[in-house]
Amino acid sequence: MEIRPENSSDYAAIERITRAAFAPMPFSEGNEAECIAKLRADGDLTLSLVAIKDAKLVGHIAFSPVFINDSFDGWCGLGPVSASPEAQRTGIGSALIKEGLERLRQMDAAGCALIGDPAYYSRFGFVGDGRLSYRNLPARIVQWLAFNDTKPSGVLRYSPGLE
Ligand SMILES: CC(C)(COP(=O)(O)OP(=O)(O)OC[C@H]1O[C@@H](n2cnc3c(N)ncnc32)[C@H](O)[C@@H]1OP(=O)(O)O)[C@@H](O)C(=O)NCCC(=O)NCCS
Repeated sequence: MEIRPENSSDYAAIERITRAAFAPMPFSEGNEAECIAKLRADGDLTLSLVAIKDAKLVGHIAFSPVFINDSFDGWCGLGPVSASPEAQRTGIGSALIKEGLERLRQMDAAGCALIGDPAYYSRFGFVGDGRLSYRNLPARIVQWLAFNDTKPSGVLRYSPGLE
């Protein structure tokens, strides 16, 4: 499997795979593909990676700037992330997350934040300990991973495409 940054010929497949992956998810608002397009249009896609297997796009992950107490301090938000439904649980999501985090480190990002299931994201080092809050969501699902010694603290806000 190859993981590489998106290019414009990937946009339609990214949209398709995002819709297909999120369609069965009860928490989905059904707008994840539009969110990615808006981040892209706004110049807020810090990093957008695709996973290619047998010449087919089988996964995608987006990262965008996030704000803590309304300040941008080099933190990025993870998501949306999708693996094509017929290929889920074969390591695509994990590979995209690991590669994305490594690339963010190389870009000197301060850290990464996300909202998601701790059962999945804790394996990558994310913690949901209440240091970050997002609206009225439970603290344990608002997770962060610092790339240096600075721990985040405060109210998390995403870029406009995801808010
Ligand atoms: C979440 C997603 C990207 C993971 O990608 P994947 O390639 O299927 O996952 P991997 O093969 O890397 O990892 C498989 C592991 O993830 C777990 N897992 C997958 N999705 C999970 C979820 N939503 N919550 C908790 N665990 C999950 C599996 O149980 C499996 O764990 P195990 O090996 O301990 O049994 C993929 O399932 C997906 O596209 N889901 C629909 C869209 C979505 O929910 N995106 C994330 C929103 S926060």
